[in-house]
Amino acid sequence: MITNNSIIIGLSGCTKLVDLISQQTKIPKAKILINRFADGEIFIKICESVRGKHVYVIQSTCPPVNENLMELLITIDILKRSSVKLITVICPYYGYARQDRLLSKNESLTAKLVTNLLEKSGADNVYLLDPHSNQIQGFFNIPNEIVSGIHFLIKEIKKKNNFKDFVIVSPDYGSVKRIKSLSETYKIPMLIINKNRPKPNVVEIVDILGANIKNKNCLIIDDMIDTGGTIITACKTLKKMGCKKIIVGCVHGILSANAVEKFNLAYKNKIIDQLFISNSINSIYTKKIKNLHIVDISPCLSKNIFN
Ligand code: R5P
Repeated sequence: MITNNSIIIGLSGCTKLVDLISQQTKIPKAKILINRFADGEIFIKICESVRGKHVYVIQSTCPPVNENLMELLITIDILKRSSVKLITVICPYYGYARQDRLLSKNESLTAKLVTNLLEKSGADNVYLLDPHSNQIQGFFNIPNEIVSGIHFLIKEIKKKNNFKDFVIVSPDYGSVKRIKSLSETYKIPMLIINKNRPKPNVVEIVDILGANIKNKNCLIIDDMIDTGGTIITACKTLKKMGCKKIIVGCVHGILSANAVEKFNLAYKNKIIDQLFISNSINSIYTKKIKNLHIVDISPCLSKNIFN
């Protein structure tokens, strides 16, 4: 709820998106100073009074993940000590979310750990844009909401494609529920790829289930691209199965390691035709991928959070 007592604090992970949200909602941004001690510790100062205000802290905990997470926690801590009225945290990208279940003994549930840290720091409520899985909501003991940018993303894809002879593809079992619902909404048949991860960021395709894609076009939707292994392996498999055009839509583009080179090579080899990624993370603007369309997700966040 916007009041003239609201203010936004935008942190390093998504400053461009924050500027757009501030312009759309007409909520001013607070002036802040972010500095480093010589040993790397983060020092933050909010350069104006926030007493009694409803403060929206917007941060994507994208790479450098730990730095951005600490920035967020320190900012919440400052606000907690500054007699603000309410601290609403908005994470356009919520890092550490993939470790949301224990696959074997002696591992961490980092998705839960981060919710604990946000709560302990003093967040009053939280909004997440397409986190890795919706079950993360159950880890919070404070009010929280998930905003999905997927339909917004698909709307942008539809402006450039007519979805004739399309099959919607889930690049792994984790996305099946999402893809099933999209297949029903857009009345497009679906296909599921079952992948294995022998180790982090390594992908093996185990089997494929669903519609025939020979001479059809494929639309792959996923929450995020990290190294690109999942998407590129899926695209190569679909091409081998005889599909025509491949369009990929992902909300979060981490594009770490040599993902940019991999996507440019895939484009050159006609494996991926179009790639749509939102601006949930600042660094997307620096990724020089030939067929990349950056989708401005700010109207979706402004409408769903501030209206
Ligand atoms: C995982 O289950 C996610 O939905 C993504 O598919 C995955 O994180 C992408 O990682 P990468 O791009 O490294 O394959």
